[in-house]
Amino acid sequence: MNGEKTTSLGHIVYGCMGLGGDWSSAPYGLAEIDEAEAAVEAALEAGIAIFDQAEAYRFGKSEAVFGEVLSRSGGLRERIQINTHCGLSTDSREVPHYNLDGAAIIESVGRSLTRLKTDYIDTLLLNRADPLLEPGQIASAFEFLRSSGKVRYLGVSNMSGTRMASLQRHLDTPIVVNQMEMSLGKRDWIETGVLVNHRDRNRYSFPEGTIEYCLGNSVRLQAWAPLARGVYSGRASALSTPEEAATAKLVLSLAHGKNTTPEAIVLAWLMKHPAGIEPVIGTRDPKRILASRDAELQATLMTRHEWYALWRAARGADVPVPGPGPEPAWPTPQARALAGSGVLGPVDQHVGNGHV
Ligand SMILES: NC(=O)c1ccc[n+]([C@@H]2O[C@H](COP(=O)([O-])OP(=O)(O)OC[C@H]3O[C@@H](n4cnc5c(N)ncnc54)[C@H](OP(=O)(O)O)[C@@H]3O)[C@@H](O)[C@H]2O)c1
Repeated sequence: MNGEKTTSLGHIVYGCMGLGGDWSSAPYGLAEIDEAEAAVEAALEAGIAIFDQAEAYRFGKSEAVFGEVLSRSGGLRERIQINTHCGLSTDSREVPHYNLDGAAIIESVGRSLTRLKTDYIDTLLLNRADPLLEPGQIASAFEFLRSSGKVRYLGVSNMSGTRMASLQRHLDTPIVVNQMEMSLGKRDWIETGVLVNHRDRNRYSFPEGTIEYCLGNSVRLQAWAPLARGVYSGRASALSTPEEAATAKLVLSLAHGKNTTPEAIVLAWLMKHPAGIEPVIGTRDPKRILASRDAELQATLMTRHEWYALWRAARGADVPVPGPGPEPAWPTPQARALAGSGVLGPVDQHVGNGHV
């Protein structure tokens, strides 16, 4: 699957950020390995074949417990693909920073391979666009890793289409994946496109053109945090907003009506998008992992009406359609009075006839 264009439905990826114990340098034990094994087994049962890792997840412990699982299960490595991210310094003695220097990339891959107990990474993702990155260095480092068989493909994460295009010009290898946060909860990836020329546009910051760049250049789009951390699929929270509560209710009712799970509905909403989005689910709970497996089917069954109803519930407002709009700020009643007195010229010409 890596390196090939995804024009149709994407596949679910298992995100390993939750594996390995807590976010500390405290060592992991048997319990963390068992937990990781249970999660991996559930993912395999759900038909998942791609596992998302990062040197930074749980300070390296996620990769380490995954390596333990691989050594427990003979033959597993050949049946799956492993993606891992590099580019985030994990040295606690230093100020947190990104590092995409060529040498740093190569060293990070070396550490990941050791922890994962494998000879190769399927796709290496550059974590974020380090402001100090030099594309030539990335190109040389990747070429070294590719030609020595340590890494097969190159991907990026949290990178705009513009930055990807700039980086790609220096590479002999295609960027095959971009991982961005996208979900029913993090909707700026669709809002920015729809709200062009609209007053609410500046509430959203997703880099415009990124989805189009990925589609146009056969870059697979992976959505991190696609379950919106359970907000719409059963996580009890007194802090839920009214929109989140209403959306969770709609998700549940759709799930009941379609004899499926809330997780499948939440993921299907992403997967129905024509970009062929691959959700990277991060739950450690085997039940929730298995509850996700119907998402691909549900994406094919979800109607346009249902898709829009979910989007509308999550955004808490209709998408822009022509209408009377709010009371215009201009002319003010005082300005109208002045216009009537002849002090100002006609003011009505400044007023739009509605808004979208
Ligand atoms: N590229 C990047 O910058 C980046 C950043 C962050 C993450 N990622 C990747 O994306 C993956 C997914 O991200 P994520 O784990 O943050 O988000 P997620 O998949 O949206 O949510 C998973 C989290 O939500 C909890 N959760 C889900 N459903 C729940 C429910 N019904 N009730 C209670 N808790 C529930 C899970 O807890 P349980 O484990 O208890 O189910 C888990 O902590 C990560 O594993 C990682 O691989 C990438």
